[in-house]
Amino acid sequence: MSTTPVKVAVTGAAGQIGYSLLFRIACGDLLGPDTPVQLQLLEIEPALKALEGTVMELNDCAFPTLAGVEIGSDPNKIFDGANLALLVGARPRTKGMERGDLLSANGAIFTGQGKALNDHAADDIRVGVTGNPANTNALIASTNAPDIPKERFSALTRLDHNRAISQLSEKLGVPVTEIKKMTIWGNHSATQFPDLFHAEVDGKNAYDAVGDQDWYADTFIPTVAKRGAAIIEARGASSAASAASATIDAARDWLLGSAADDWVSMAVVSDGSYGVAEGIISSFPVVTKNGDWEIVQGLEINDFSRGKIDASVAELVEERDAVKELGLI
Ligand code: NAD
Ligand code: LMR
Repeated sequence: MSTTPVKVAVTGAAGQIGYSLLFRIACGDLLGPDTPVQLQLLEIEPALKALEGTVMELNDCAFPTLAGVEIGSDPNKIFDGANLALLVGARPRTKGMERGDLLSANGAIFTGQGKALNDHAADDIRVGVTGNPANTNALIASTNAPDIPKERFSALTRLDHNRAISQLSEKLGVPVTEIKKMTIWGNHSATQFPDLFHAEVDGKNAYDAVGDQDWYADTFIPTVAKRGAAIIEARGASSAASAASATIDAARDWLLGSAADDWVSMAVVSDGSYGVAEGIISSFPVVTKNGDWEIVQGLEINDFSRGKIDASVAELVEERDAVKELGLI
């Protein structure tokens, strides 16, 4: 085992996603069995007592990969020297809300955390945002961290990506391992576009394999895009274990690399590829290697996809303008 622990900061550590996420990171699911991790956990003051209980449990697991745990409510201290920051802490929506309704409640959290990351994180910091509305919160954090390259911020659309794979696997009766090159475009919201036109099932085109435009447009896309709301309706609380699992998948692939015959969906800063407004944080198909990502280029976008991508991008532009108006960026 290497000796220098990787410092992983997690915000909202006493929340429901935190309760799944911390144990997965600590046991090596993120960086593997040979890399020790130091957890640096941020919470608001009233939640620190509960977090102390979680730390007792983390210690009681005696994970060989857990080098230490620090907790606190000051982002300047908790982000000190962090190599990876997973920004989960934010209020979840409840029944009847859209994720964008959380902008004013949650946006301000990400200004202070962006500044603290800017001033205290390690030079190799990568920041993954799970707290909603994730894309625009990532934009707020990045804008408030001018010394950190914009490419180091991403927002979580991996949960949507995994949901899309799962739905397709069920429809076609194939294992999830046979599905590759799934793409989520746009916002982690009901306007997102899960793209089957470039996905593959056992090496063949997924849209052709489905062969049913009505199922694609009227069942698959809304099921994936509205899965978060369906879970809230059923559980009375928003997705947590699946969100933690996707947060791990996304960070692991970012740091350790995506598979050679596949790509992943990540919301990253747009360079204008595929006509997506430059500067917003929008989901794309990306390949990752050693902590860097590249948008997959050269995919043909048909009229149906163009309309869907444009609608989700328009929503992200509106969210950007709203947080500008609120003085957050
Ligand atoms: P939760 O309410 O159980 O936990 C949130 C935690 O964040 C709480 O413990 C709270 O005290 C803490 N917190 C609030 N403000 C904070 C701050 N300034 N600094 C540090 N911690 C702070 O919520 P949850 O179910 O864990 O969800 C967290 C967020 O993740 C929500 O916004 C939810 O909508 C979002 N989410 C995103 C995805 C995704 O795919 N992107 C999936 C599921 C949930
Ligand atoms: C999800 O997709 O499950 C989360 O973003 C929670 C939500 O509000 O839908």
